[in-house]
Amino acid sequence: MYRFMSFFMLALVSAVPMLQGGEMADSKGTVVIMLGPPGSGKGTQAVQLSEQFKLPHISTGDLFRHHKKHDTELGRKAAAYSEAGELVPDALVIDMLGERVAQPDCDAGYILDGFPRTLNQAVAFGKEILGSHELVVLNLDVEYDVVTERLGGRLTCTQCGHPFHKLFNKPVREGICDECGGALTQRKDDTEDVIRNRLRVYDTQTKPLIQYYQDLGVLNSVDAGKDKQSIFTELTGTIKAARRVSNHG
Ligand code: AP5
Ligand code: MG
Repeated sequence: MYRFMSFFMLALVSAVPMLQGGEMADSKGTVVIMLGPPGSGKGTQAVQLSEQFKLPHISTGDLFRHHKKHDTELGRKAAAYSEAGELVPDALVIDMLGERVAQPDCDAGYILDGFPRTLNQAVAFGKEILGSHELVVLNLDVEYDVVTERLGGRLTCTQCGHPFHKLFNKPVREGICDECGGALTQRKDDTEDVIRNRLRVYDTQTKPLIQYYQDLGVLNSVDAGKDKQSIFTELTGTIKAARRVSNHG
């Protein structure tokens, strides 16, 4: 935790001039933040964008599920919140994410799926990103009745976490992940009551980040009610355009 907070403090010093200009001419790499309600397709799109741009995909939800699967203390603590559709406390999330992004594969940038989810997380982490990376925020905008239908039919790989859907995104072989051959299952938080609570939590704690990133001039909203491929095309174009602006080509 201490290491990560020091990291933030250093970054804050170098971030201040960047906050004024918007364009980050000498940034090291691209950090993509995927914002959007549960079921908006953050994970689905992040997997493809990760392949396209050769950037690691980091899902805080997947990291917590990985810890849970390996029965770590963090995994047990986080599961108590996740399975009820509540957010895991900021300190635990920030600490876990700090360790992940300090790994060398993140030097040239990464794709964040499900982080930040509170203003505290955004402020703490944003200072680090703006100082050393170019930031692109993708907001997946979609109606709640659409996401409820998506989550109700979602199947998730128990090995690699890849999301499928019973109707909209079927695996080639029933019950088997196309990516790694793992078994598909329904996530514990994909039940009607928990989905409703996750949407409520999103409304109160995460939605304000849309305005926060709008004010920073880095928000890009897309209609995520469309088909997967159209959304991917739009997101790809948005990232390329943002990189062109900051000379990444
Ligand atoms: P997390 O795993 O991030 O869950 P979430 O935000 O609720 O998002 P989902 O994974 O449910 O949805 P998604 O947007 O990735 O959609 P997907 O691509 O799968 O977090 C889980 C929990 O961990 C949280 O509740 C919290 O407790 C904790 N947590 C995580 N991060 C945290 C943080 N930063 N702070 C605090 N706590 C944190 O798609 C959904 C379905 O739709 C799939 O079946 C898919 O096949 C289908 N689909 C996708 N796109 C389309 C499309 N265009 N058309 C039709 N179907 C589609
Ligand atoms: Mg997801």
